[in-house]
Amino acid sequence: MKPWTMLPAIKIMTLCLGCLVGGGCSENGSNAQSPMASSPPTLISVGKPLPEEFQEGETKFNNFCSRCHGTQGKGTNNGPALVHKIYEPNHHADMAFQRAAAQGVRAHHWKFGNMPKIDGVVSEDVSQIIGYVRWLQRQAGIF
Ligand code: HEC
Repeated sequence: MKPWTMLPAIKIMTLCLGCLVGGGCSENGSNAQSPMASSPPTLISVGKPLPEEFQEGETKFNNFCSRCHGTQGKGTNNGPALVHKIYEPNHHADMAFQRAAAQGVRAHHWKFGNMPKIDGVVSEDVSQIIGYVRWLQRQAGIF
């Protein structure tokens, strides 16, 4: 067999390798970005009007959370954007929000420092806040 007749076979092998390597990354869910590296991106501008059912949640979010997590959960210098892939329901379920508000959060994803427990919110408030944040996350196409 002449060497060049092997070429198609080699091409196919390389292609397959490509699939394997490329597929591997997205499959195991490890995102290449390192959350510790920098502050999170600002990623939404919600053009749609906020549905009425989430308006109370927004008010409470603005009262208790936005000074760190930013208006519309976009983040500030004091805290991360909650409208971010890592806070979607599979990574941070609603319980994580309840726990964060009730007990605070020890810094582990970012370099903003610890989140203090939030006085003055009860779990019902947090449930409304979660509804609002999930709505924002959906508008941003996060889940
Ligand atoms: C004083 C600033 C501050 C306020 C106010 C604040 N947060 Fe946070 N929050 C943070 C910081 C900083 C982190 C990131 C900690 C880390 O992972 O490094 C955080 C993380 C979180 C997380 C992720 C928890 C986890 O398990 O990783 C949730 C959820 C959250 N906050 C929800 C809220 C909600 C809801 C409110 C309002 C009721 C709120 N935060 C108010 C600073 C704040």
